[in-house]
Amino acid sequence: MLKFDFTYTLAENVQGGLGTAEIDSYSTKVEEFLKKLDENKPGFVNAVLTRKWIDSVNELSDFIFTFDNLVVLGIGGSALGNIAIQNALRPANWNSLSVDERNGYLRIFVVDNVDPDYLSSVLDCVDPKTTLFNIISKSGTTAEPMANYLIVRGLLESYGLDPKEHLIFTTDPEKGVLRRLGRAEGIRMLEIPPDVGGRFSVLTPVGLLSAKAAGVDIEELIIGAKDAYEKTINSSLWENPAALIAVTHYLHYLKKRNISVMMAYSNRLYYLADWYRQLWAESLGKMYDNDGNKVHVGQTPVKALGAVDQHSQVQLYNEGPDDKVITFLRTEQFDREITIPKIHENEPELAYLGGKKLSTLLNSEQLGTQLALAKHGRPSITITFPKIDEYHIAQFIMYYELATVIAGHLFNINPYDQPGVELGKKITYALMGRQGFEEYNYSDSAQKRV
Ligand code: PA5
Repeated sequence: MLKFDFTYTLAENVQGGLGTAEIDSYSTKVEEFLKKLDENKPGFVNAVLTRKWIDSVNELSDFIFTFDNLVVLGIGGSALGNIAIQNALRPANWNSLSVDERNGYLRIFVVDNVDPDYLSSVLDCVDPKTTLFNIISKSGTTAEPMANYLIVRGLLESYGLDPKEHLIFTTDPEKGVLRRLGRAEGIRMLEIPPDVGGRFSVLTPVGLLSAKAAGVDIEELIIGAKDAYEKTINSSLWENPAALIAVTHYLHYLKKRNISVMMAYSNRLYYLADWYRQLWAESLGKMYDNDGNKVHVGQTPVKALGAVDQHSQVQLYNEGPDDKVITFLRTEQFDREITIPKIHENEPELAYLGGKKLSTLLNSEQLGTQLALAKHGRPSITITFPKIDEYHIAQFIMYYELATVIAGHLFNINPYDQPGVELGKKITYALMGRQGFEEYNYSDSAQKRV
């Protein structure tokens, strides 16, 4: 199991830490909430407790493995989980390896933005004849994946390729234009569980297809997520990582620590911090509470990479405003190891490094940063991966999804909606001339007022 260490978030170890009694005072509230949650499980939990979604992906195996490349087109919750899994569980040079070195698994590209330079450069890397495009959109209407879909479809047609032999639509089982087009044209489709929102959907077909295509063991992902859920439901507060993440972050927020930094001491884990940024920001940043009061709550998530950001951000974390709680991600075991050669043994500035493992240096840097922060009275949490594999990555995902929902309960807000995002989408539709969205053309009315 993942190891969670809350030592440096407690007042007995860090000046700015939390009292144990303060944390304890939330145990009943959290335990009652988890009991109710278990009786009426959220969609993202049900999704890993059934075979339905994983089977739907497995059924496409024969089709997927006829291709050399998979390009995912999606944004936000329809992209970030794919990126996080790919980066954590496949080496950074995966897409440069030969098909034999990849054991026949596919190269994976995830295109989220609508930046023409970016999309063009990805499309330059793939031969459309050997490429499968997975268009992921829960709503089936979001401007970015739809624009990228139209471009890709145009490309396929320009090559004289049959779009239905190169496309998969991953979308709501009933709603949206993708579902309608897919049905009309006989395009292969995957369903996103209707009760699972984008940022909670990585362990549904949204994230499982690209994972499978890259040779990730998706059965093991599901096992890891289930184990994290069981642990969360069956543990009292002090044994419960998801609950402790929620309560400690909530209490730090009340102490004006309105920034949550996730600092990964592993390039492979860095993209989990990106995934977390969306989950925490979009779920908890809300204007209204559940009683309709205007509250403007939310903790700004920030990602950082150790040791790189020690030379960029950590000065601020140590001596700047005391407005942050830091979560470190580290791993005990790297897949590959490098021993630093013993060269220049007469130079003390270099000699101490010779013969040491590079991973020892990285993990020492993590501990050094944490201890320096503690000296400055700055709280932190550490999450240690025994190794970076499917089982532990999925645990991390499930723990954080649950922590987000528990934090939503503490903040008394709805963690599942995103009205701010939806408004931006509507205004974009209006600006781009989509019929039915004229009332959102605020720029027109602003100009008229001028
Ligand atoms: O978490 C969310 O709901 C959002 O970030 C969505 O994932 C994002 O806006 C993309 O939406 P869709 O999948 O409907 O295209």
